[in-house]
Amino acid sequence: MKANGQPTRTIRPLSNGHVEIIDQTLLPHRLQWCTLSTLADACEAISVMRVRGAPLIGATAAYGMALAMRVDASDAGLDHAGTALVATRPTAVNLRWAVERMQSVLLPLSAQQRAAAAWTEAACICDEDVARNAALAQHGLVLFQKLAKPGQPLRVMTHCNAGWLATVDWGTALAPVYAAQAAGLPLFVWASETRPRNQGASLPAWELREQGIDHAVIADNAAGLLMRRGEVDVVIVGADRVANNGDVANKIGTYLKALASHDNGLPFYVAVPGPTIDWRISDGAHIPIEERDAGEVTHILGGVEDTLHTVRLTPQGCAAANPAFDITPARLVSGIITERGVVVPGRLADLYPDAA
Ligand code: MRU
Repeated sequence: MKANGQPTRTIRPLSNGHVEIIDQTLLPHRLQWCTLSTLADACEAISVMRVRGAPLIGATAAYGMALAMRVDASDAGLDHAGTALVATRPTAVNLRWAVERMQSVLLPLSAQQRAAAAWTEAACICDEDVARNAALAQHGLVLFQKLAKPGQPLRVMTHCNAGWLATVDWGTALAPVYAAQAAGLPLFVWASETRPRNQGASLPAWELREQGIDHAVIADNAAGLLMRRGEVDVVIVGADRVANNGDVANKIGTYLKALASHDNGLPFYVAVPGPTIDWRISDGAHIPIEERDAGEVTHILGGVEDTLHTVRLTPQGCAAANPAFDITPARLVSGIITERGVVVPGRLADLYPDAA
């Protein structure tokens, strides 16, 4: 998708053997690239959220493995890099998936072959992410075309960051939005701000503007009212992990949107590429929920253009809790949109007989 009018991916290998990422802690204020040169750089970028969103976290982890292989391509080095990366964030399963895929490709090779092979495999993981998201975009577009009413834009509500910035390109929940734009289907996007880190207010809002799509940011708490007033046609979110039974882990607040959708008879879809499905767990109770620093709740970052400040919102010393994800039970999900098609949550395995 576009940044400054130019087709752009969120992560790119450089000819000097380093990797560049968009530093998403600075958006929407500044589009700035950040160089990753070492395994430690990749781990830091994931844990402090310079990169965010399950598929992009996976792609960054793949390059983290490739950077590590330049320094220590022994079996112990492979193991150490995987352990360090997997420890950065617990919920998005794409991280573990990418690390295990890199290890399974590299382990049978000699140490001398690993650095070059790792670079190739990381690039392949990135290209596959783009292809998967482009395919799921088309399946989502068909749904959107069915839901659209003549003479009015389709009003899509989303939560958190599931646009192209959360992936290598295209996005997950916003991929059908971009496909709809390309197909000439008029639409409007409600992007909920997504406290406490405000991914919705900063990232989808930025990329929808760059892409020229009509949208408005809302406070998270406004979603129910808008649904009740009939101002929403469909809700679509991404996910950090989907269990075998279709339970969905996504950014905190997703569950409340699913409940409100259910109460208002609105379709609630989850868009995921295959690597976001965790076939090893039966249901959402097994998904680890990341607890992040309380300071993300008590303080907020913002500013005017380039000058950013953190300010305190709560009384000094106030305690806060910060669970970063929640679980939406499969019964509240109308369908899961994947690169292989759309299914009701309980039938995911029908689409992936090779993986389930
Ligand atoms: O904590 P984050 O910003 O990495 O969380 C991101 C989300 O929860 C996204 O909704 C999710 O990864 C969707 S996948 C494109």
